[in-house]
Amino acid sequence: METEGRAPRVLVGVTGCIAAYKACEVVRLLQKAGCEVRVCMTEGGEHFVAKATFEALTRYPVLDSLFSFEPTAIPHIDSAEWADLQLIVPCTANVLAKIAHGIADDALSSTVLAAVSPVMVAPAMNVHMWQNPATQENVQTLTRRGIQVLTPASGYLACGDIGEGKLPPVDQIAEAALSVLYANDALKGKRLLITAGPTHEAIDPVRYIANASSGKMGYALAREAARRGAEVTLVTGPVSLKAPYGVKVVPVVSAQDMYEAALSAWQESDCAICAAAVADYTPKEHADHKLKKSHEHLDRVELVETKDILAALGASKGTRPVIGFAAETNDVLDYAKRKLQTKQATMIVANDVSRQDSTFGSDTDRVSFVTDADIEEMPVLPKSEVASRILDKIQTLL
Ligand code: CTP
Repeated sequence: METEGRAPRVLVGVTGCIAAYKACEVVRLLQKAGCEVRVCMTEGGEHFVAKATFEALTRYPVLDSLFSFEPTAIPHIDSAEWADLQLIVPCTANVLAKIAHGIADDALSSTVLAAVSPVMVAPAMNVHMWQNPATQENVQTLTRRGIQVLTPASGYLACGDIGEGKLPPVDQIAEAALSVLYANDALKGKRLLITAGPTHEAIDPVRYIANASSGKMGYALAREAARRGAEVTLVTGPVSLKAPYGVKVVPVVSAQDMYEAALSAWQESDCAICAAAVADYTPKEHADHKLKKSHEHLDRVELVETKDILAALGASKGTRPVIGFAAETNDVLDYAKRKLQTKQATMIVANDVSRQDSTFGSDTDRVSFVTDADIEEMPVLPKSEVASRILDKIQTLL
């Protein structure tokens, strides 16, 4: 989205639902991500959270009436024109229905009707209200009109029922909003395969061989590629990260699982980025019962080599870019050049993990792009910015 260099502007609409207090956190998350936020509330919303709370958070008057602003202002029109995104969180069944039917009987519904920017709603309600065909038809109407309706989570609801209707986690809502605000079409129509995280190689049902990969790099790449309009398949080993918005996540455990999932997705992909720290070795045999240290030679687990996913993709790449990583502690560029050859990659992202600011699990990296043609050295950058630079490079290769 083009915002001419200024902070993206989000108008958060708060409606009358017990989950209204979670909108405070959404406001904070958007502000932390660099957005300017204003709030519009329904009368019902104000029963749950005082408007002073949002005014303190945003340092701006809450819009809750069509008639209370300056006589020269037309609050719902001005607010709609101000916003780059209108985000209704939480959105009740009633407000969802009003939007679907073009009813504009208060400040919030009038502002949505006057929208000139994308609108996103995060519904939250009782499971039966959510499942009611009236609500479902309204959701379909909104979706058909290009309004993004976030899928409610399932769980224990405020009314005591268990089922669908919970507000999605606030970080997911903020991420969905940011993905709209920062969206562009640079990779539209391109299908990217990304591997991420460690693999776990089982020794027995309770033990495995793993490594310290956090998965942050692969997830940052997937998030940024999706924001650029790519169709992303993220084949990921076990990590504790949330799925990036708009990305197809294929969870796997072992190197063999990752190999199979990646090779299958590769058939339909235009480019691959292998950011996973795949185990190089796996136990030759996987015991189906817990091994005893005293009796069953746990100290002499026999290992065999795993299949190299990057090399397999490189060998079958044709004209498709295949990007690999080399995490090294010494002779970084020499090893990266060797990997470029042996794995038939288009580019290796070389990472000196002996540095404090570039180690496994850190939020920054200092990398170099190694291709047949040259080596480009990057400064220390946040992982999200490294992901951006890698995708900038890929855009020149696609
Ligand atoms: N890789 C892969 N499949 C494997 C092993 C590695 O796709 N079975 C990919 C990684 O995702 C990464 C690159 O290959 O892009 C890393 O190369 P690798 O040879 O694994 O590096 P190291 O494990 O550090 O090996 P070495 O000790 O040989 O340097």
